[in-house]
Amino acid sequence: MLTSTKELLETAQKHSYAVGAFNLYNLEGVKAVVKAAEADKSPAIIQVLPHILEYGGSPLIALLLEAADSATVPMSVHLDHCEDRDIIKMALAAGVQSVLADGSKFSYQENLAFTREMTVLAHAQGATVEAEIGRISGTEDGMTVAEKEAKMTDPYQAKEFVEESGVDFLAVTIGNVHGKYHSEPRLDFGRLAKVRQQLQIPLVLHGASGLPALMIQQSIELGVSKFNVNTEVRQKYLQFWREYGRTNDQTDLLDCQKVATGAMQAVIAQKIRLFGSAGKAQHVAEENHDSI
Ligand code: 13P
Repeated sequence: MLTSTKELLETAQKHSYAVGAFNLYNLEGVKAVVKAAEADKSPAIIQVLPHILEYGGSPLIALLLEAADSATVPMSVHLDHCEDRDIIKMALAAGVQSVLADGSKFSYQENLAFTREMTVLAHAQGATVEAEIGRISGTEDGMTVAEKEAKMTDPYQAKEFVEESGVDFLAVTIGNVHGKYHSEPRLDFGRLAKVRQQLQIPLVLHGASGLPALMIQQSIELGVSKFNVNTEVRQKYLQFWREYGRTNDQTDLLDCQKVATGAMQAVIAQKIRLFGSAGKAQHVAEENHDSI
């Protein structure tokens, strides 16, 4: 059931769990998220990066929206990390529920102006906006932000930014990275607690792949309501095809697709349970007077 990202995250925030936002590329990914969420009666977010959306075009957007809508649990579709006004406009016009208007590589003032403009645009269409303040390092689908370019979120600047932009959710940088953690992850929970003291809106943590359960739990306690997951699911998919191709002369592609979907579904199910959203689908519906 297509549900707004705002409803999903505000309900999660109120009841101290988080919703997983899973980056997807194709039908197998979509099915893996929907099946995992339905099996665990959990809300979930289907998330897509701008260059995947550009590649897939309107058929892909239609697939994502239809998959979310026909799911038996509340789901939304979210455009991840986008600094391109035209792609944001296209996604909103197509009906996505939320976007990450990512001005984090710009100066503070430019990021603020960009985020404010995209927020006005999204709100006019009943959609919501995530912003990023600070800058997350690491690699995501070929886009690399070097460690020296990364910037932690300043809690006071975050408060001013949210007030002035009118944004709905904020992605924080507290030591989280996109892609593989090359050493033990170290999150600055003191900083996260200060951000939470300054802000009431749902907070987002990117780079959830590879974070241990205790850190996930502590992040939720300090106000994180959305975790972004890409690497672990993507790697599972790639690993499946690599190994399958080497050891199997199976030629029925559909059978392969089903097994690949199942492999991703298992990773997603594990995350859903870790984030505490399993069993919360009914909960979202009740809070928002929908029936599922
Ligand atoms: P990971 O690839 O580290 O899971 O991060 C995903 C993410 O933050 C997408 O925005």
